[in-house]
Amino acid sequence: MSTQNLTISVAKGDGIGPEIMDAVLSIFNAANVPLNYEEIGMGKSYYDKGFGNGMTPEAMQSIERNGILFKGPMETPKGKGVKSINVTARKVWNTYANRRHFRTIDGVDTVYSKAGIPIDITIVRENIEDTYGGIEHMLSNDVALSRRFITRQGCEQVIRFAFEMAKKEGFKKVSCGHKANIMKLTDGLFLEVFYEIAKQYPEIQADDVIVDALCMKLVQYPQDFEVVVLTNLQGDIVSDLCAGLVGGLGFAPSTNVGDNISIFEAVHGTAPDIAGKNIANPTSLLMSGIMMLRHLGLLKEARSIEGALLYTIESGVHTGDFGDRNSPTVDTTAFAIAIIDNLGKLPSKAKIRATEDRSDFHLPVRPDQQRVMKGNPSTIEIEGIDLFFTSELLAEEIAEQIFAILPSDLKLVSLTNRGTVVWPNGSVYTECSTGYGVRLKGNGKTKSEWWDITNTLGSVIDVSSTEFLNVIDGQRAYSVGQGK
Ligand code: NAI
Repeated sequence: MSTQNLTISVAKGDGIGPEIMDAVLSIFNAANVPLNYEEIGMGKSYYDKGFGNGMTPEAMQSIERNGILFKGPMETPKGKGVKSINVTARKVWNTYANRRHFRTIDGVDTVYSKAGIPIDITIVRENIEDTYGGIEHMLSNDVALSRRFITRQGCEQVIRFAFEMAKKEGFKKVSCGHKANIMKLTDGLFLEVFYEIAKQYPEIQADDVIVDALCMKLVQYPQDFEVVVLTNLQGDIVSDLCAGLVGGLGFAPSTNVGDNISIFEAVHGTAPDIAGKNIANPTSLLMSGIMMLRHLGLLKEARSIEGALLYTIESGVHTGDFGDRNSPTVDTTAFAIAIIDNLGKLPSKAKIRATEDRSDFHLPVRPDQQRVMKGNPSTIEIEGIDLFFTSELLAEEIAEQIFAILPSDLKLVSLTNRGTVVWPNGSVYTECSTGYGVRLKGNGKTKSEWWDITNTLGSVIDVSSTEFLNVIDGQRAYSVGQGK
């Protein structure tokens, strides 16, 4: 498809957003990037005007029509119950893969660059699921609960993206970061899907590493990693760790990729402390813009701007947040002008990655309705229920009360507190919060019979949530309490 007439939606954002976006677009214009820009109303000021999701309906239509949102940072409105505009945008448009690229940049000194250790790591982070679903409840004043959804389909989307990207861009290894040794079902599912998909890419080496060890290895041997794919929260943390390896968030571009809509943005925030002063560093947004140009198949322009940016930084031109403290700084506008003046030049040391000359971009294909990602058929039997409740009583006292009313065909398996078994056995040293769980088992009961049982138990315990103990295709599909 011709890219000549492509239009992208541009949201300048809040704080330093307009300054750095103007700088980036001035570089795009000087490099004759063949794009039209549709400026849209999105950000904190639109939230303040009463648009609850932080954008006007026209902005939403523009993004859904163009398929590309290029955005500056946006302030998260303060207050309980208010969601981040950025996270909402990523989730609403199903941008399931967050890609961040961290590399050594000549002119940005770090302990690694001084030690001669080159870094070139791409983190692919799942972008929609996990604790970032933000599904949280206070069960009492003292007990907060978060739900973590990990789905096979969500894992498949992001892991396939990581392998496809590796194939397209010539990476040789993809590693999976996880915590499946503790979260055997959620992280376990992510890891299982990772190796299932890895089999389809025999030319790419696949391995996995537990996330805490990964953090240590990234600091000790960053040169050993190429692409790392992780679940959302772990990926968020590891991304910032990698940003630290290459000189901070100002040098880390970010892409949120979906099948129809993709979002390109800087990873840093609105920097309210320096907003309006024209001193912000536009590099992160520019690097995201370069990734966007590659995504759109504008490889020549991407290469030219990347070359000029790296040449400019290598030659010592810098804003106040990085570079040689003994040499004078330039402001945002002057930094952009320096890059424009250097268009056509290439850095002497830094390599510019060659990518396959193909673009996966297509204009959004608007579905008639929302899609349900079909799952695999399975047989599910229920062999019990977990009830979560709050109580100030001791586990033994609670067990006694439950026994007094428990139907004879049910077994009271255990009481847990914060996941640790505290009845029928356990340690006297286990300190209990007021948030308990009770596990009941019984054969051949339907869901509605379990709801009746829950109601009966409601007379002695203050139930706040429940989960069934499923056996899926003959396999136990729930965790056991610690100490069990
Ligand atoms: P921040 O990234 O805005 O600022 C942290 C520090 O880094 C500040 O000292 C700031 O001056 C500096 N800094 C950030 N970007 C810079 C740049 N381009 N050039 C020079 N210095 C820069 O993080 P903070 O203060 O935690 O967040 C401020 C607001 O931004 C919050 O409302 C937050 O929710 C939002 N935010 C938005 C993001 C997005 O739109 N994707 C991402 C992160 C935060």
